[in-house]
Amino acid sequence: MKKIIIIGGGAMGSAFTIPCLENNNKVTITEPYSKRFIRDLSSKGKFHSALKIKLPKKLKFKKFSKDTLKEKSDLIVIALSLSGIDFIARELKDLKIKTPILVLTKGLKYQKKNKKIFTISEQFKKNYNMSNVSVLKGPCLAKELAKKNQTSVVIANKNIKVAKSIGKIISTRYYITEYSKDVVGVEVCSAIKNIYSMIIGAGQSLNSSSNLFQKSILEMKYLIKHFKGKEETISGLAGVGDLYVSAAGGRNSKMGSYLGKGYTFKNAKKRFMPNDTVEGEQLAREIAPYILRKIKKKKIPLMIDLLNAILKNKKIKIN
Ligand SMILES: NC(=O)c1ccc[n+]([C@@H]2O[C@H](COP(=O)([O-])OP(=O)(O)OC[C@H]3O[C@@H](n4cnc5c(N)ncnc54)[C@H](O)[C@@H]3O)[C@@H](O)[C@H]2O)c1
Repeated sequence: MKKIIIIGGGAMGSAFTIPCLENNNKVTITEPYSKRFIRDLSSKGKFHSALKIKLPKKLKFKKFSKDTLKEKSDLIVIALSLSGIDFIARELKDLKIKTPILVLTKGLKYQKKNKKIFTISEQFKKNYNMSNVSVLKGPCLAKELAKKNQTSVVIANKNIKVAKSIGKIISTRYYITEYSKDVVGVEVCSAIKNIYSMIIGAGQSLNSSSNLFQKSILEMKYLIKHFKGKEETISGLAGVGDLYVSAAGGRNSKMGSYLGKGYTFKNAKKRFMPNDTVEGEQLAREIAPYILRKIKKKKIPLMIDLLNAILKNKKIKIN
């Protein structure tokens, strides 16, 4: 039995508690930001309003505090949105926490100072001097995991033994873990699929979406090589695996479908998705300063078209 602290009581952090508990671990969840999730997790029945299920009774909720983070544990899991990453990295660094960390968050960060893009694990290492960080990515709808539907994910760490030791703690018969040494490739794939699923969603028929799917893979390959990840990671769970699930459903592809119908981004957001977070939009805004300056536009025409749709509110041309 291991002790796991999960930071982030949103859909993913809460769903992740289920295999962890089933594997007989002691699991504590804490929520630093959202009043709604704090209310859900601290309620008697532990009904989670995003997952629409009751979380297991064995799950412990603790108020977010330095003391909670300092509790002795075997694994700290970060399941916050990208916007919470700097905050939590600072907290963990200040407390000099040495426990192995597993990051579920998907995304990339643009560093204005040196005009570079960092993956989340690079950021932990370079900006916060934290090296014991693994990442877990892949096709996983939190609601499905919460129902114990079979789910396969990949854990990446340059030291594969560390990745496997985490897999042993968290995997179950329905939560299957694969392993990779290509941390950068896994992180870049799992982030940019949010943009490419929007592009695939813009296809107005299965034929056109399939064409966009194939072209997206070519662009993803180019980008992975640019960021020094391994090309083969594209065919893994963090690449085509996650691209499939995101293109088949979800908020990115929904936004893409409106763009494909000829709406501008602003108009579609205001009219159809005013309260939804579209992760692909956030990522597009984050990485655009780098992509537009550093990458040959001819190599990634779909990505450029989408960046123009989001940043300049232009209609997309891909259909
Ligand atoms: N690794 C995987 O298998 C996997 C699967 C699905 C989703 N995810 C990723 O997990 C992350 C969370 O997704 P989710 O579906 O749980 O989202 P959610 O909206 O349900 O929850 C978001 C979480 O982030 C916190 N948060 C939001 N803004 C914050 C801020 N400014 N500061 C601090 N905390 C903040 C919220 O309080 C909440 O805990 C996303 O990056 C998503 O891509 C990972």
